[in-house]
Amino acid sequence: MTVLGIETSCDETAAAVVRLEPGDTAIGIRGEILSNVVFSQIDDHAPYGGVVPEIAARAHIEHLDGLIERALSEAGLGWDDLDGIAATSGPGLIGGVIVGLMTAKGIAAARGLPLIGVNHLEGHALTARLTDGLPFPYLLLLVSGGHSQLLVVEDVGKYRRLGTTIDDAVGEAFDKVAKLMGIGYPGGPAVEKLARKGDAARFAFPRPLLNRPGCDFSFSGLKTAVRQAIEAFDPLTEKDKADIAASFQAAVADVLSDRAEIAMAQADLVIPEGYRRFAVAGGVAANMALRERLLGTAHACGYEFVTLPLKLCTDNAAMIAWAGAEHLARGETDTLDVAPRARWPLDPDAAPARGAGVKA
Ligand code: KG4
Ligand code: ZN
Repeated sequence: MTVLGIETSCDETAAAVVRLEPGDTAIGIRGEILSNVVFSQIDDHAPYGGVVPEIAARAHIEHLDGLIERALSEAGLGWDDLDGIAATSGPGLIGGVIVGLMTAKGIAAARGLPLIGVNHLEGHALTARLTDGLPFPYLLLLVSGGHSQLLVVEDVGKYRRLGTTIDDAVGEAFDKVAKLMGIGYPGGPAVEKLARKGDAARFAFPRPLLNRPGCDFSFSGLKTAVRQAIEAFDPLTEKDKADIAASFQAAVADVLSDRAEIAMAQADLVIPEGYRRFAVAGGVAANMALRERLLGTAHACGYEFVTLPLKLCTDNAAMIAWAGAEHLARGETDTLDVAPRARWPLDPDAAPARGAGVKA
């Protein structure tokens, strides 16, 4: 089953071709990435310190056709070799989602190919099956620019949310801290780099919700504390910046580790022994310090830790093609009237998070 995937929900324009083969192992599934091309719009948005939706949508229009051609040629395939076409149909910036989904619809109609509208979060959630053939169920921490969630991945299309952010997403907090210190966009990689040189013990930033029951996250108090620390300095030296970055990252690590520990205790009830695996996905999963910390937490709780290649943590179309292939393999396709969605929770049964302005 060979599927072309398209991703346009934020500031990466991406196309990829992925093949799904029924495996001969106990895992029962195998994936292969035949091509995976990503055009990052960072340079277009950097002057504004964040993603500008209108600029993103226009850039997707400009670049998508060429990227699709490149994805096919790098895979050494033509249109006739495809079994389906998958595109992110939400959640995300609606202008961008429309560009990708409409392009996919055009191709599906012209080539008579099945269309699969993919939930971007499901793309992140199922990547561990593409890379490691993870069997269901497994525990997932999804941490990106718009989402922070702990989920039990029960099956394709079936997610049990254990916790989510009640205010900001983790990636968003990284981006805001970077912006406050003027160290560049996107903030995550910039903060991580600076943190390596810093003293994580210099600032005792708050650890919101630490040791509280449940698996929800909160990052806005931490962000405010960082802002106040930054404002107290004039001038703010390179050493101050590095120490703030390191102290902030340490606070995030403590919070993620604490919440993950509770999630693993809860997941023990629904994930049988032998299946206890903990995967971390989304852009923030590219952070090495956080990975190391979560690896320790997972092992202490009796879980195997699954990391993804960095290129598959941040937004890409291989994950969209893969999620599409998983649905296609089950005979689940969409019609041409599938609608783009700005919001699309993975677990529709989960109660709304307590705070206002919730992202997921
Ligand atoms: O998954 P992603 O590429 O896009 C969304 O779906 O949001 O995640 C992007 C987010 C940004 O907030 C970015 O700052 C963050 O992931 N990020 C990182 C790192 N690399 C990317 N955060 C912390 N450390 C990193 N190394
Ligand atoms: Zn994402």
